[in-house]
Amino acid sequence: MDIFPYDAVVFDLDGTLFDAEEGIVSSVRRAMDEMGLEVPADADLREVVGPPLADSFRDLLGVPEARVPEAMERYRRDFSARGMYLYSVYPNIRSILTMLREAGVHVGLATSKPLWLARDILAYFALDGDFDRVVGEEDGAAKLGKAELIRRALPDRYRRAAMVGDRKFDMAGALANGIEGIGAGYGCGTEEELIVAGASVVAPDTEGLRAILCPGGEIPRGFFLTVEGPDGSGKTTQTELLEKRLRQFGFSVLRTREPGGCAISEDIRRIILDTANTDMCPACEALLYAAARAQHVSQVIRPAVERGMLVLCDRFVDSSVAYQGGGRGLGVETVQQINDPAVDGMTPDATLYLAIDHRAALRRRLSASEPDRLELEAGEFHERVQKAYERLVRDNRRRFVVVDAARGVDEVAKDALDAVLERLLPDRRA
Ligand code: TMP
Repeated sequence: MDIFPYDAVVFDLDGTLFDAEEGIVSSVRRAMDEMGLEVPADADLREVVGPPLADSFRDLLGVPEARVPEAMERYRRDFSARGMYLYSVYPNIRSILTMLREAGVHVGLATSKPLWLARDILAYFALDGDFDRVVGEEDGAAKLGKAELIRRALPDRYRRAAMVGDRKFDMAGALANGIEGIGAGYGCGTEEELIVAGASVVAPDTEGLRAILCPGGEIPRGFFLTVEGPDGSGKTTQTELLEKRLRQFGFSVLRTREPGGCAISEDIRRIILDTANTDMCPACEALLYAAARAQHVSQVIRPAVERGMLVLCDRFVDSSVAYQGGGRGLGVETVQQINDPAVDGMTPDATLYLAIDHRAALRRRLSASEPDRLELEAGEFHERVQKAYERLVRDNRRRFVVVDAARGVDEVAKDALDAVLERLLPDRRA
């Protein structure tokens, strides 16, 4: 039984699946620059995203006809080495593709890009497994043009098909094939351009697109990712960098932290970390962390994961096990028991552990800002925290991803991203 209105959907690449602007504009700029040609402002360069690039070099950017092949050559070299890595997958695209695939809809891709390049981009962003047919122009062959590309991306037989694209060429190509054109109004073309070119509907954003293609469909569950490490492991910096890169891969990221993450839990955080509260007993401390967590899980974490988001949480229950269970000596089991009703089954899907010796980590931390109450604890406390963390990692090898954090920010960030992507996108080849 068909659950969605279309049984075949063909997507354009740039401006529809990917926000391509930064990548394309920066490589066009580089090519013009290398050729000693005057480079227009970014706002004008934006126009080149979408239509065949050789035409844009000539018609929009005034490159003399005789130099267009050179401009294309320079552009391509820079784009495949650098520009394509500046692409980002629009939010919700991953869930749309998954929902279509799971419903048995034929999913095609028709792009004016060279086929090999389109394939490289899909592979890098781990979307190559989501398409039944990928069609692009072949290097050295006569241009097929959008209508023919779309025809080839469609299945042999279909009941109702649509082409989703952000420029007039996509809509015209849809009409030429007798199928519906759905405008990606969030891309590079305007709504007017798309309507004039024959779009039957224009999606203002990718949530709107999902409603058109997958009405009433169940959004796939999101992902719960936590980041752990001793004070000074660079956890907060790394979590922020990870958020940015995961967004680029199309994940709808909700970054949050513990203790805190919502109003009640942030209030509890102030009490726990207040340097005046030196007489707080370990059980009180452990229960306050658990109380803050209970609210955070029920108000923020669980609803977001159920809405399909990737929740990226700076510390979670492992911190309680390490700090209160190990550091304060309450014991791992007691702390886990205290936290059972707080966690309420929301075990992280993966946990990134930033591994660094606690002495090196603390030196780093103290040089950055004033210490809070827990950071003022003596060395043996942090030694016990580290030991407890190491045991957690040993006992939960499938959940933990360990990265050596005693290196420069960029190196750690790269390894952390790769390690996390391996968990999120196990089929990724790049
Ligand atoms: P932060 O510096 O990462 O924001 O964390 C605040 C402090 O709280 C840090 O020293 C670790 C500590 N902590 C615990 O002791 N138990 C917990 O459950 C959590 C979440 C943090």
